[in-house]
Amino acid sequence: TEWTTKLRYLPYNQWPQSQLDDIKYKISKSHWRLGYHIQPTTGLLNDPNGFSYYNNQWHLFYQSFPYGPVHGLKSWDHLTSDDLVHWKDNGIAIYADTKNDSQGAYSGSAIVSDDQLFIVYTGNVRDESWVRHPKQIGAVMNENNEIKKISEPLINEPRAGYTDHFRDPQIIEHDNKFYIILGAQKTDKTGHVLVYEADKVTGPWSFKTELHFTNEEMGYMVECPNLVFINNQPVLIFCPQGISKSILDYHNIYPNAYVIGESFDWDTFTFINPSKLHNLDDGFDVYATQAFNSPDGRALCVSWIGLPEIEYPTDVEGWAHCYSLVKELKINNGKLYQLPVVENKKLELNKFTTDKISAQSKLKINVPANNDATVSIISDRNDQFKITFDSKNGKIVVDRSKFGQNFAQAYGESRLTEVDTNKDITAVLYFDNTVFELFINDGEKVITGRLFPTGTEFFVKSDNADVESIQLDKIN
Ligand code: FRU
Repeated sequence: TEWTTKLRYLPYNQWPQSQLDDIKYKISKSHWRLGYHIQPTTGLLNDPNGFSYYNNQWHLFYQSFPYGPVHGLKSWDHLTSDDLVHWKDNGIAIYADTKNDSQGAYSGSAIVSDDQLFIVYTGNVRDESWVRHPKQIGAVMNENNEIKKISEPLINEPRAGYTDHFRDPQIIEHDNKFYIILGAQKTDKTGHVLVYEADKVTGPWSFKTELHFTNEEMGYMVECPNLVFINNQPVLIFCPQGISKSILDYHNIYPNAYVIGESFDWDTFTFINPSKLHNLDDGFDVYATQAFNSPDGRALCVSWIGLPEIEYPTDVEGWAHCYSLVKELKINNGKLYQLPVVENKKLELNKFTTDKISAQSKLKINVPANNDATVSIISDRNDQFKITFDSKNGKIVVDRSKFGQNFAQAYGESRLTEVDTNKDITAVLYFDNTVFELFINDGEKVITGRLFPTGTEFFVKSDNADVESIQLDKIN
């Protein structure tokens, strides 16, 4: 398929059913599908949206273009779960089918209000000259999971002084007031985060302030900002596109960063003593993470494992990308920690007693202080994925260069992260055929990435490390 603009933005009802059938056929033959990670039924999955708990279930939506592995006319696909581990895909729930979202139902969030789930998202509208006119749209979902859009946008146009890069609303509530946190670009082409406020979710919404979370320059655009609170400390998780590498040392095409404040001033939306910027993930593929404060008291997040503008090996099979496991966020000693939610225990089956593991496995790794250790996953076709631990110098390197089909090589094929020197290192690796998530020292550092093996059988090899491998359930 040659993906012209016309084809990418073709209304869904003009696609023949055969397009989806062809992709489904290719997927049925694929060796690269995932066993326990969220993946698209067909086509492209990008940002997580509307992550929430409503009507006794977890809800999560994904940005979807179902007709191919490209960014086209986006809709929201609806997933539900009782345990944050097993997800049911209910299909598309928000189509780009009104004048306020004619070129895409872009990213957004959700909050429970008046026994309904109130959704806010960006309507991507383009005029005849293909100029953007972003609208922030409201919609309500009832207990039957039926969604009704509100016809008048909550925020109809970018604020004066800002460009048409104005999107990705996160709705939050505090002290009986509602706030929308929004990614924006000033006319001088700098990235910012704006705050709107209202007394009711339906509005009227008015501009309050910029969010003050750093004194640094944030590049040319901030996508997908999320403000969450952990023990009353504010955490902003966001994607500052084009940010200088002197401010944030990142290696992917675009970064997903975070900042923690010591405390938060709600009157001025200011982080008091903000930390410097950190990468949320030191791996290859994490972007557009969505986080929210769940009613059970946890701060939860899900990451898109995929990046804009990068070709992935599954493109030829008509699908692309997946999500991370749901992770719980904590703060310890001023640092953000991420670990898969405890519910993931349910995936554990038996311990492996030989080197052979399965495509769905979890490795628990211990490396004593003052040691050089390696842990590798090797396949029957000699794919090699290698993790090197230097606990004396506190350096961990993940290398995917020799594992199956290479991609995104321009951005490097290994990643380094650092921890305290001269200490034992513990790590947990979740491996799921074409994705890995490595959680180091209880989630102090995380390295995530895709891997596309040529082989189908997998073995663990380790030197100087103590490794326990556990088979995980294949639930997809
Ligand atoms: C980030 C993003 C968002 C936008 C969405 C469109 O990956 O570009 O800014 O809302 O994807 O799918």
